[in-house]
Amino acid sequence: MDLEGRRVLITGASRGIGAALAEAFRAAGAVVALAARSEGPLLALATALAGAAYPVDLCDPEAVAGFIGRVEASGGPVDVLVNNAGIDSSGFYGDLASDDLERLFRTNLLAPAELIRQVLPGMIDRGRGHVVNISSMAGVAAFPGLAPYAATKAALTRLTTGLALDLAGMPVGVTAVEVGPVTTDMLANIDGYGPTAASFQRMFNIRLLRRLSAPEVAQAVVSAVQKDRPFVRLPRRAALFPAIANLPQWTTRYLLAGVRPRPKER
Ligand SMILES: NC(=O)c1ccc[n+]([C@@H]2O[C@H](COP(=O)([O-])OP(=O)(O)OC[C@H]3O[C@@H](n4cnc5c(N)ncnc54)[C@H](OP(=O)(O)O)[C@@H]3O)[C@@H](O)[C@H]2O)c1
Repeated sequence: MDLEGRRVLITGASRGIGAALAEAFRAAGAVVALAARSEGPLLALATALAGAAYPVDLCDPEAVAGFIGRVEASGGPVDVLVNNAGIDSSGFYGDLASDDLERLFRTNLLAPAELIRQVLPGMIDRGRGHVVNISSMAGVAAFPGLAPYAATKAALTRLTTGLALDLAGMPVGVTAVEVGPVTTDMLANIDGYGPTAASFQRMFNIRLLRRLSAPEVAQAVVSAVQKDRPFVRLPRRAALFPAIANLPQWTTRYLLAGVRPRPKER
């Protein structure tokens, strides 16, 4: 998709990867709409990028209900939805509070799934659109201390690849982003739990992973939307793992080639 003048809604845009995504999409000519809870940073970034801010708690089902409608009513159609907002859960699973577990699944999985459900019909009617889901390498394989986080990301990746099958032949693209550790507040938090930090350190030591920067991830995402690529996988040196994990999907795709994903009439 040529991003010039296209409207891109980015969740979790108050800091970290989301803020870098906002800057990268703006630099590519897009008009940005930014969502997160922290009103101050969100407004400041939206103003700096000549975009719009939509303060929202994506954990709150009432706030998520009709959210795309509100964004579109105030600034025009959403051409690209980037589901980036997310929280981590590093720690021992048995110590996790019930509320935290619910927040994790609502923020990382239910909100993105619901926003896609809301945005898709308009994209199909307009004949253009792209959905990006910021998953994680933790969605490919779980790291110690990150079991529920990894579960949300594995489900988000599967939602994305399943959607790609549903949308075959339609003018809406999807991209799953499976990246390793990125230097943000989230990583600092994850590094605070010994077993998770040790597992990352081991991967760094054998040079399988490296710390990514938010701008390099953001640039790769923008490029994937421009070129309609189904995956962003970084660092490249670890790309073999998600590729192997996705082997059954390639097989399914091959076996299903020629099967119409939807009947002609709805
Ligand atoms: N950092 C990594 O190593 C890494 C690696 C792979 C994938 N990822 C994924 O990349 C995405 C961004 O992570 P990050 O590292 O940039 O984290 P971050 O710096 O902690 O930023 C998270 C963003 O999500 C927003 N957010 C959190 N809860 C929210 C809620 N209930 N409603 C609305 N917005 C909410 C935060 O804004 P407010 O607090 O203002 O609401 C913030 O803008 C996440 O999905 C994460 O899982 C991160």
